[in-house]
Amino acid sequence: MSKMIHLARPYFDSEELVEIRKVLESGWVSQGPKTKEFEENVSKYLSAKNVVALTNCTCALHLSLLCLGIKKGDEVLVADYTYPATGHSVVYCGGKPVFVDVDPKTYNISPDEIRKKITKKTKAIIPVHTFGQPAEMDEILEIAEEHDLKVVEDGACAFGAKYKGKFAGTMGDVGCYSFHARKGITTGEGGMVVARDREIAEHIRKLSVFGIVTAWNRENTDEFVVPEFNEIGYNFKMSDITAAVGVAQLKKLDYIIKRKIEIARYWDEKLEKMSLINSPYNSPDGLHIYQSYVALVDKKINRNRLIELLRKEGIQAQIGTYASHVQPVYGSKDKCPNSLEIFNKAIALPMFYTLEEAEIDEMAIVLERTLEGM
Ligand SMILES: Cc1ncc(COP(=O)(O)O)c(C=O)c1O
Repeated sequence: MSKMIHLARPYFDSEELVEIRKVLESGWVSQGPKTKEFEENVSKYLSAKNVVALTNCTCALHLSLLCLGIKKGDEVLVADYTYPATGHSVVYCGGKPVFVDVDPKTYNISPDEIRKKITKKTKAIIPVHTFGQPAEMDEILEIAEEHDLKVVEDGACAFGAKYKGKFAGTMGDVGCYSFHARKGITTGEGGMVVARDREIAEHIRKLSVFGIVTAWNRENTDEFVVPEFNEIGYNFKMSDITAAVGVAQLKKLDYIIKRKIEIARYWDEKLEKMSLINSPYNSPDGLHIYQSYVALVDKKINRNRLIELLRKEGIQAQIGTYASHVQPVYGSKDKCPNSLEIFNKAIALPMFYTLEEAEIDEMAIVLERTLEGM
């Protein structure tokens, strides 16, 4: 390659700097009016009420489960093929993550497998909208209703994705998003929850501020009240500097998604001509926003070796994400063969807003040559 092509690259322009400057000059840099503005803008974008900005998606999942009542001894069904933040969030609450296998095409949690794993201890399901492709929410919500289970959507990678016209993250009891550097829009680190019930959102907000009311909200009332700590909370609140970046990034979301879909179609065309790699499935039920473009290599191909060879050629490829049940930390006895296969055979190829067709042309030549030489 003429230059190293990174796996992902955030897209910023002067708008982020303008917003950050406003916050710095205001003097209110911790959580305050800019976070409120970001929350309001997200709320309008998603046409959803009860939005709370947080430090990251991991704490969004953690607080969502806590506020939905997950505690020691409870089982939570977790999509196995995910970044382990999903499983960790259950453990933080004292619960047991029960890993559920995924569909080999979409990489998303399989509703049939969910049914097999429900026990008397099951309290919630966490579907993950893997790499920005929405999970089978109709069936998942149906199962949840039948068995009286809560649904926490892990939409870390799916802010702006849609399932049958509805935004991913807005269909369950709570939806969680990430604004980490590799996500569609980013604040460096950042997260957001959207809750169906106002009380749940308010509880999440309280627990994100040590268990009390945020300082800015306290300052904005006429009454002077000394807060009382009646519940153990955390410091998971978003700062106004972070929110400033979010306000500017949100304006770019629609055109970033549009362009990434074009890039995905271009990659698809290239991969269709190669016999040793398959392009990712794109379900007609959803709007896949391609947080990552994750293909599957043929059984014959040593995926890790392929990543090494591509990196030597200047293409920063990566694995997709993880099979949770084989991570030693969980000591799980669950079997999730599809997830394990995808964990071993998936490869994320460069995918970002400013990636150009000419760069994909060049990478496709290298990829095909490398695959055939293996
Ligand atoms: C599916 C999934 N869930 C949760 C997370 C955690 O997000 P954050 O880094 O914002 O805590 C990630 C991060 O990559 C993710 O991919």
